[in-house]
Amino acid sequence: MIREIAYGFAGLVLAITVDFLFGIRDDPREPPRLRPKIPLVGHAIGLFQYGTGRYSSRLSQRTDAEMYTLGIFHVKVYVCNNRRLVPLIQRSSKTLSLRPLIQLGAKKYAGANDETYHLFGRKLADEFGDAQTSALSPGPHLDKANLRMGKQLIVELEGLLDIPRGMSKTIKLYKLVKDTVVQATGSGIYGANHHFRDPVVNDSFWKWQPYLAAEMTGLGLFTAKGRAARDKVIDACRKYNESSIEDAAYVVHERHRVLREAGISPDEIAKRDATFPIAMFANTIPTLYWAIWELFSRPTILKEVRDEIESRAVSGSKQDGFVLDVAALKSKCPLLLSMFEETQRTRHIHANTRAVLSDTLLDNGKYLLKAGNYLLVPGRPIHSNVGIWGPSALEFDPYRFIPKKGSDREAVTPSAFLAWGAPPHLCPGRQFASTEILIALALLAVRADLQPSRGSWEKNPALNYGEHAAIESPKRDVDIEVKVRDRWTGDWSLTASESLSRIPLASG
Ligand code: HEM
Ligand SMILES: *[C@@H]1O[C@H](CO)[C@@H](O)[C@H](O)[C@H]1NC(C)=O
Ligand SMILES: *[C@@H]1O[C@H](CO)[C@@H](O)[C@H](O)[C@H]1NC(C)=O
Repeated sequence: MIREIAYGFAGLVLAITVDFLFGIRDDPREPPRLRPKIPLVGHAIGLFQYGTGRYSSRLSQRTDAEMYTLGIFHVKVYVCNNRRLVPLIQRSSKTLSLRPLIQLGAKKYAGANDETYHLFGRKLADEFGDAQTSALSPGPHLDKANLRMGKQLIVELEGLLDIPRGMSKTIKLYKLVKDTVVQATGSGIYGANHHFRDPVVNDSFWKWQPYLAAEMTGLGLFTAKGRAARDKVIDACRKYNESSIEDAAYVVHERHRVLREAGISPDEIAKRDATFPIAMFANTIPTLYWAIWELFSRPTILKEVRDEIESRAVSGSKQDGFVLDVAALKSKCPLLLSMFEETQRTRHIHANTRAVLSDTLLDNGKYLLKAGNYLLVPGRPIHSNVGIWGPSALEFDPYRFIPKKGSDREAVTPSAFLAWGAPPHLCPGRQFASTEILIALALLAVRADLQPSRGSWEKNPALNYGEHAAIESPKRDVDIEVKVRDRWTGDWSLTASESLSRIPLASG
């Protein structure tokens, strides 16, 4: 026993010494080190256990430094802890680059071969990103995808509200949101005959997801089951390409075009197709889940939101059918939009990650970031900063994102709202995803009553720290009693008027 303690102690002394020695070689202009509680390995364990976003957000509470350094053996992870630096980081995007991480993702997530991996280390990564961004920006192509997605939301809601008059039914909310988002997003992006309609593909996709973190960290040894599930998804992508791709959104065709022109083989393209739904589903699901939670747990806000939607975005009648005007939803329902963005602000847990490609000076030489290391920009410390959001920064304010005239609150600048990532790498799907969430919330608010079977909405529902999406995930699903609002039963349809209308998101 004594011997074990002695060994343990010697190990600790050694670790602290090594940690210190790693620190000695730092340039004085590098951000100050934040020592881990467990020497040497503490930060590595923390990052693995909590994920980059959650761990760096926790650490940021421990220090006032604008930027600090985490040592992980010989690698340094710099953490940005002040919004002031975000635009400066953006300006240095040539050397503080996302590209190596996109490249690594291509290899690790779906097993791209060496050739594809090398191509993604060159300009292909940028061309691929640009093609996605332009194919998903407002215009006729996005309108078509939005309309297909919205129609599927109506179908899903019909299923949910198929309840005998005066009765209720009980559902699991997270499962409902998950299935709804998969079907609606799948329909919008891949077309009405998308492969996620097949329960085997849906099932395989979700079986594969928990293995992604292990693949990324090189613990691929334990991922045989995950890979078997993944290969079914890749296979389904090949078959989909043969049978149903005609109907797909422009973004799917554009992705194929760019990859084909770069000389990438059909098999490798299918692998890229298999990973696209990770971006499509992973964040929309928890965001919609929490948005429903925040809305339905506030009766007075729910009433205001219903009034707003019913008076500005819904026309028609029980007899002739109701029509939801998507353009009005985007631009004339500020409280609904504010509820959605406040949900994003408070539930966001992502850290934008950049690789330092060459030594980079930030802020007129105040900070030196050295080549070969990484930079994290966690959103949460910025989203909860009192200097930016006022004394209510830590509270949920339903009205926060409603533009106010003559307010003394600092206007929300894009660098203070990182729910969609940090420029220049904002989520290309943000208009599509926001449209989906607004339509889903509006239909639910107007057509349904939702109440937890146990009586009330929990104040602080437990979180699942194992999920590494950009948004927190709940630890447990919740049973919800669903009732129909009779006044609004009837046929529902959508109009999606002017095509260049853009939701005025705080991120730009
Ligand atoms: C509420 C829903 C969503 C949120 C909060 C969200 C958030 C994000 C964030 C934070 C990033 C940047 C990741 C980084 O650079 O570290 C990102 C990237 C991306 N998102 Fe979204 N996203 C959502 C929905 C979607 C949807 C529906 C699509 C597709 C239709 C999509 C497609 C993408 C793509 C293609 C990327 C780029 C990935 C890459 O460059 O490798 N996202 N998203
Ligand atoms: C999709 O897969 C999830 C996870 O395996 C499962 O909970 C859900 O019921 C499936 N949905 C459909 C429509 O098959
Ligand atoms: C998709 O199908 C077309 C037509 O059969 C083929 O030329 C192309 O290589 C396929 N692409 C993929 C990714 O399978």
